[in-house]
Amino acid sequence: MAVAVAPVHFPVFAPTLPDPAELHDVIVSVFASGRVTVGPQVAALEEEVGARLGVRHVIGVSCGTNALLLLLRALNLPAGGEVITPTFTFAATAQALLWHGLTPVFCDSDPDTFTMDAAAADALITEKTVAIYPVNIFGVAGDLDAYQALADRHGLPLLFDSAQGIGSTYKGRAVGTFGAGEAFSMSPTKVVTALEGGLITTNDDELAYQLRYMRDYGKAEDGEDMRWLGLSARMSEINAAVARWSFARLDTWIANRTAIMERYLARLGEMPGLSTQQIPADRTSSRNYIVILLDPDRAPITRDELYRKLKDEGVQTKRYFYPALHNQTLFRDVEPGCAARLPVAARIADTALALPMYSHMTLDTVDEICDIVESCCMAYA
Ligand SMILES: Cc1ncc(COP(=O)(O)O)c(C=O)c1O
Repeated sequence: MAVAVAPVHFPVFAPTLPDPAELHDVIVSVFASGRVTVGPQVAALEEEVGARLGVRHVIGVSCGTNALLLLLRALNLPAGGEVITPTFTFAATAQALLWHGLTPVFCDSDPDTFTMDAAAADALITEKTVAIYPVNIFGVAGDLDAYQALADRHGLPLLFDSAQGIGSTYKGRAVGTFGAGEAFSMSPTKVVTALEGGLITTNDDELAYQLRYMRDYGKAEDGEDMRWLGLSARMSEINAAVARWSFARLDTWIANRTAIMERYLARLGEMPGLSTQQIPADRTSSRNYIVILLDPDRAPITRDELYRKLKDEGVQTKRYFYPALHNQTLFRDVEPGCAARLPVAARIADTALALPMYSHMTLDTVDEICDIVESCCMAYA
C-alpha cells in the first residue's frame, strides 16, 4: 500500500547555484580543450582558495570523503592504531578511519560549541593512539590551540575534518591552515558547492606533493609507476568552475546566512528550553547549519515531535547529527560501553534539529517557517 508523504515546501538545504548561462563560456572552453579533469579550472580554484585562506597548498578532489581518505593515507598512520575523534559528527568522519583499518576512539563534546572536548580527548590518549582528528561542527572550529598542544605533548599528528568549515576562522586565522592538514567538502549541502567536490589544505610541501599524485591513483611523476596507494579522486573541470563561482561569493553567503540565523533566533530564541550552538568570540563560523536543541524537560515540544509535525506541514528539518556515531549500527561494536563517557554528545545528538537554511533563502521565508514552528509548539503546549 502506498504511504502518503507530505510534499516538501521548505527544504532543509538547497544549493545556491549560478544561472547556467553564466557558466556557458567556461563549459564551452572546457569541452573544446578536451582537458575535462584536473586542468586550468582546478588549478585556478586551488590558487584562489589558497590565497584567501593563507595556506600553501590546496588539492582539489572529487568529494570530502575522498579528501579525508587521502589525507589519512598520506599521513601513513599504522593500521590498528587508535584515532581520537568526536562521536557527534557526520558518519564520513569515522568511516574514513574504518576504510584504513584505524580504530575510532569516540570523544565527548563541548556543551556550548558542540565540538570535540579537548580535555576529554586528553584522557583518551594511550600508547595505541596514532592521531587526533577533530571536526569543524556546522562551521564552528573547536579549541584548536588545545588540540595542537595535546598533539605536541604526545608527538601525534593532528588533522581535521573541516568539511563544513570553509570561511570559518579561529583567532583571526582561516580554518584550513591548522594541523598537518584539513579536508573540506563542497557537496550540495555546503556553503561553497562544486555540485560535488572536496579540498585538502596543508602547509606541508611533502604531503601536498604526494596528495597531488594520490588523487590520481597514486601514479608517480612518469604517469606509469604506481608509487603511492591512491584513489580515483580527481576533480572535474566543470565542478571546479562551479566551485570558483561559489567560492568567489563566500562572504555574501556567510552574510546572508548570518542574517537568516539572527532572524530565526529573534523569532524563536525566547522559547523555553531552546538553545543553540555558541560561536565563541575568538571564532567566526561559515554558518553551514542552524541547529537548535530542545530540552525535553523545558521545551513545549520534544525534538522528535517537532521534527514529525514540521514534516507534516511541509517543512523539512534534519535531526543532525543523529544518532551520535557510537549509537549507529556501523560503529556500535567499535567500543561497547563507550557511551558512559559520552553524555554531552549524546544529549546534543538526541535533542538537535537543523532548521531549513541556504544562502539564497529570504527572511520572509524564515518568517513563514517560524510561524509554522510556533503553531506546532502551541499545539503541544
Ligand atoms: C562533517 C562531514 N565530514 C565529511 C563529509 C563528507 O563530505 P562529502 O559528502 O563531500 O564526501 C561531510 C558531508 O556532509 C560532513 O558534513
